[in-house]
Amino acid sequence: MSDRLTDALKHFCEKLRTSVEGGNEVSIITHLDADGIIAGSIMAMALRRMGARYSVRAVSDMNSSVVENMKADGRDFYVITDLGGGWASNLRKALDNKWVIIDHHEITEEEILTDDEAQILNPWKFGIDGGREVSAGGMAYMVASTLDLKNRDLSAIAVVSAVADRQDQGDKRSFFGLNAEILKTAQSLGLVSVDIDIILAGRETRTPHEALAYTLFHYIDGLTWNSEACYLLLKNAGIKLKDNGGRWRVLAEFSQEEKSAIVEAVAKFVGSSDKRLSEILLDDLIGYVYTLAKEDKRSLLRDAREFSTMLNACGRIGRAGVGIALCMGDRNTALSTGEEIMSTYKMTLRNNISTIFSEKWRLADDGKTTFVNGDGILEEAMLGAVSSLLSRSPSFRGRVLFVRTLTKDGTYKFSSRKCLHCKSQANLGVIMRQCSKALNGAGGGHSAAAGCSIPSSALEDFIAGIKEETNDPKIARETA
Ligand code: C5P
Repeated sequence: MSDRLTDALKHFCEKLRTSVEGGNEVSIITHLDADGIIAGSIMAMALRRMGARYSVRAVSDMNSSVVENMKADGRDFYVITDLGGGWASNLRKALDNKWVIIDHHEITEEEILTDDEAQILNPWKFGIDGGREVSAGGMAYMVASTLDLKNRDLSAIAVVSAVADRQDQGDKRSFFGLNAEILKTAQSLGLVSVDIDIILAGRETRTPHEALAYTLFHYIDGLTWNSEACYLLLKNAGIKLKDNGGRWRVLAEFSQEEKSAIVEAVAKFVGSSDKRLSEILLDDLIGYVYTLAKEDKRSLLRDAREFSTMLNACGRIGRAGVGIALCMGDRNTALSTGEEIMSTYKMTLRNNISTIFSEKWRLADDGKTTFVNGDGILEEAMLGAVSSLLSRSPSFRGRVLFVRTLTKDGTYKFSSRKCLHCKSQANLGVIMRQCSKALNGAGGGHSAAAGCSIPSSALEDFIAGIKEETNDPKIARETA
């Protein structure tokens, strides 16, 4: 870790400690996706252990009404996590210096230079790529473990937050940078174990065909959500799905050779229409899996990727509180509610995706960019989840994806992703921010995942703008 970051963390923690020891009531405002839920929960745990009075609230994005609400709320101090880039001057006006931000989204040079009181803790300030090397959960963990070494037990959920933001982008889905350091701590404490395996959830509980059909880390048209098709595929490939006593075998019971045969069967299925696709899939299906060793063997929370899916489900379905309770250790009501939420969420996603694929007019693809029109079918809250899942589909490999929906208040929301093996140099966060701002909208995000909202009258101009920028990224080459 860089010395500058270490010093900044010490200074930042002193500010927090002074606030808590002064008896201040702290309000944590966080983003409602999995990374935001984890970042907010880590800060809540750290504050609880300090004996602070605190509350946590999750919001979909930072906007003027959130700032107004904070002002009206009149709490003593605000900790904003996974949110707030571009809002420092508004926060200063509304709340003086009674706030800090812990985030990993790229911020402008101007915002860095005007942060005189060091209220913003952001990896980009220290030359660390917040899109790939550390999540907001990871930054919150850095704060928590600087406050007290005892908080190192929170490293396990910080690993989940890195997976949630798809920062497992190293060789075979490994981590690098600060994420790798956090993972090392979690491993040394026996909280997370790491293996190379098939990247499917439920390795200890599900048969391979069920795991293939119901894991949403990949979207394979024809297999995902189709357990029957997965069963036939594996059976026809000669894979022994039951043991000699007639009992279904779970993935963990398969030998390495048998696992390779499963992966090859899937790659062959995909490759029947495109050979390159099957190579990509082979690459993508085998890699590091991160197991939360202290979780029950049958629990969905045991696999870091599945844990992150459950948190996303909670946030997207408007039940972020359940996700926060899970992150803070509730394994009773929160877990059973979380499981129900997960089924509803997966069903909604399934309906959304199948409508998109069956109503072909919703897709416009020129080989480089894909536009998906979700008007009338995609709930605003599901937009990011749908675009993340589509971006993992081998059918959209190499593309930049834009998914849109018309919201109830008459604005358009966009979610964009770089799909599997996308080589585009475009910085989607910059494109979304600048193209929407030019048309009285607002947005931002990371190089590979971003979003925005725009007024409905600006739709055509906006689409023309993002097409031009994606194909010939002028602004996106600039530093944010
Ligand atoms: O909503 P979605 O999952 O597509 O968001 C992708 C990324 O873009 C997230 O990191 C989110 O914080 C960011 N974003 C943003 N402003 C928006 C919408 C999304 O900064 N209006």
